[in-house]
Amino acid sequence: DDGECEARIVAAKRMLGDRLCILGHHYQRNEVFRHAHFSGDSLKLSQLAAKTKADFIVFCGVHFMAEVADIVTGGERTVILPDLAAGCSMADMANLAKVRKCWDELSTVLDPDQMVTPVTYINSAADLKAFCGRHGGIVCTSSNARAVLEWAFARREKVLFFPDQHLGRNTAYGMGIPLDEMVVWDFSKPMGGLSPEAIRKARMILWKGFCSVHQMFQPQHIDHFRRRVPHGKVISHPENAFEVCQKSDYVGSTEYILRTVRASQPGEHWLVGTELNLVNRLAEEMRPRGVTVEFMSPTVCMCSTMFRIDPQHLAWTLDNLVAGKVVNQIRVPHEVAEPARAALDLMLEVVD
Ligand code: 13P
Ligand code: SF4
Repeated sequence: DDGECEARIVAAKRMLGDRLCILGHHYQRNEVFRHAHFSGDSLKLSQLAAKTKADFIVFCGVHFMAEVADIVTGGERTVILPDLAAGCSMADMANLAKVRKCWDELSTVLDPDQMVTPVTYINSAADLKAFCGRHGGIVCTSSNARAVLEWAFARREKVLFFPDQHLGRNTAYGMGIPLDEMVVWDFSKPMGGLSPEAIRKARMILWKGFCSVHQMFQPQHIDHFRRRVPHGKVISHPENAFEVCQKSDYVGSTEYILRTVRASQPGEHWLVGTELNLVNRLAEEMRPRGVTVEFMSPTVCMCSTMFRIDPQHLAWTLDNLVAGKVVNQIRVPHEVAEPARAALDLMLEVVD
């Protein structure tokens, strides 16, 4: 039961001491989140992983995050994902075969290695980060996408951005690139469903991926809130659709959302367009300070894969570590990790 799991987790943490570092993403459920030594957005968690001296990093998040932790630690730490089925449906919308096919098809119209910088959102498999590393490309997160795109456009005239079309569109638009200079690459169609002229004209080529959680937030949810709470403020994650971000007062990563709402004065009222566990925790934290925090959608939008990390899996993983056994290790093969790390390091250089 829950009480028993809780006790096992607490005991294992005590026994493993500073050999253990539990990292928790902001979308984790409370029963797991409260055991994390550190929490953060994707960028912060990857930096924390790179910094820790612990032998074991138990990553309470999703698969690509654990892969990044393994890559940035150069395989020197043991990285564990408590449930291997905790993936990211958006990350799965792009894979190496599809991206290679896209690159080959682009090369029938232009020279992509001269003209296109591949930019992958960190929400992607390690071999896609490696693809970017091998083709002069780079990784970005929701908190540095703009700086990364500025770097990319200073080098080559076009960007191929995958897998999240929304982060790509929202960020590029914010930099002054008009919508008619962006196209969506439909990977289920030959040539992405685009004409050669459309490809030649485009500056942003957006992969047709999206987050199934954030797609539930709709512009009318914001309209309704504004009618009901005229003094309220709206804050959204950049994985939301263009119209949602356009109607929001603030747009940024999970860490940015927390920082911004936490800086509120008593009496402020927020509508937040991101995952439910984060919003519920933030609402509870802000209530005693007289700040109201509301979730954007009338229906429940949780990230079902983040939710797979439960106290049972965490307790099982830690019990095994105490017994000297490693389960659910995430290991990126060297030949993938090396170019992927180059693309991740470049990101950290560009944003500093
Ligand atoms: P952040 O990097 O903003 O935490 O976003 C991660 C994510 O998966 C959002 O859906
Ligand atoms: Fe992936 Fe969306 Fe879940 Fe984030 S919220 S991990 S993008 S499915």
